Amino acid sequence: MSPAFEYRDGQLHAESIPLAEIAARFGTPCYVYSRAALEARYDAYVAAFAGHRARVCYAVKANGNLAVLGVLAARGAGFDIVSGGELARVLAAGGDPRRVVFSGACKLEDELRLALANDIACFNVESEPELCRLSALAVESGRQARVAIRVNPDVEAGGHRHISTGRREHKFGIALEDAAALIDRAASLPGVRLSGVACHIGSQMMALEPLAAALEQLAAFVRELQAGGMALEHVDAGGGLGIDHGGKTAPTPAEYAEMVIAALAPLGLEIVLEPGRSIAGPAGVLLTRVAYVKPGHGRKFALVDAAMNDLLRPALYEAWHDILPVGHGAAPDPEPIDVVGPVCETGDFLGRDRRLPARAGDLLAVADGGAYGFVMSSNYNARPRVCEVMVSGAEARLVREREALADLWRGERLFDEAAR
Ligand code: LLP
Repeated sequence: MSPAFEYRDGQLHAESIPLAEIAARFGTPCYVYSRAALEARYDAYVAAFAGHRARVCYAVKANGNLAVLGVLAARGAGFDIVSGGELARVLAAGGDPRRVVFSGACKLEDELRLALANDIACFNVESEPELCRLSALAVESGRQARVAIRVNPDVEAGGHRHISTGRREHKFGIALEDAAALIDRAASLPGVRLSGVACHIGSQMMALEPLAAALEQLAAFVRELQAGGMALEHVDAGGGLGIDHGGKTAPTPAEYAEMVIAALAPLGLEIVLEPGRSIAGPAGVLLTRVAYVKPGHGRKFALVDAAMNDLLRPALYEAWHDILPVGHGAAPDPEPIDVVGPVCETGDFLGRDRRLPARAGDLLAVADGGAYGFVMSSNYNARPRVCEVMVSGAEARLVREREALADLWRGERLFDEAAR
């Protein structure tokens, strides 16, 4: 969690505002983001690559709230998108489409058209059929698309199997041995111009070695292309740097940059980066209130008002998020506590076996809620999606309203009404 969230006089704050005050004003559950933390984490990337031609394209999928994108756009960030919806969000937030790279194994026609119309910086192409479709659509729209070929280096990223993408059996990228042929194909097609080579092998990586191994292969491949006389403009190292959690420490952006620079700077190309979690994750928390404390056998349950539909990561990946009492002072309960929500699934938990003081009415902050939190939320169990608040200094603003009950069936009709 970012130092923007710290205890002052025994009360957990977001920058200068007690989280308890935010809960009183906006209700719970609620995502709270720190503007200063977002800026600091983006700036850390920029500083780490200072002196090199590098572009930080924040991965919108991590947190696409307009306020978050707006803060980063104002800093000059580029964006990594995976859908037309994410491009629309970037545009709505004032982001520059000329700094957008488009990733993803299955870009749909409408999305490619929208991206072409906005003249984005680069399409990270992942297959020959995609390349051909992009070429045809570019010709149709009278545009020239800059493309990078995303290679799959067949490296194990070391994180959870659901978020590892760099093995041959994953749907992502082109096997290195097939990439040269695809690059030749790109040279023969109208409407597309090869600009670079890209890779991304996974997320929440806590060690640099797998990435270094992947980038070494990427660099060797680029050198082969350059030796063959190909003039490339950029090389894209993807995202994936993890964040500290559960007592484990992730490499810093500076350590990460040192590795990336060692691997890629000798190529003499612009370096593109696509970090998501390491910018947004620690810049947010999910604020929740204990509704009931229920004794069990050998453990207790803190039943809280947030659930797996609000923060899916623990249920989906057994991900660890630290959980902190908003008011410091009470001694932790001697019994282990499971922090669970109201959704009717055994997998609905935010944290298990925690040592916490938890009484009904207490507020808890689930750490590192800034990335893959709200964006993965749903209305499961007919639970309205929660609100999002951004704090800057002593000011807190609602940057997304809590859904109302009527939002739950917005766009739906009774069958008989649907005839009209
Ligand atoms: N670039 C590409 C092509 C990606 O697929 C991703 C993430 C990123 C960049 C950003 O990676 P990051 O720096 O955030 O690790 N929902 C999962 C994470 C899925 C990540 C998918 N791709 C989670 O909650 O852990």
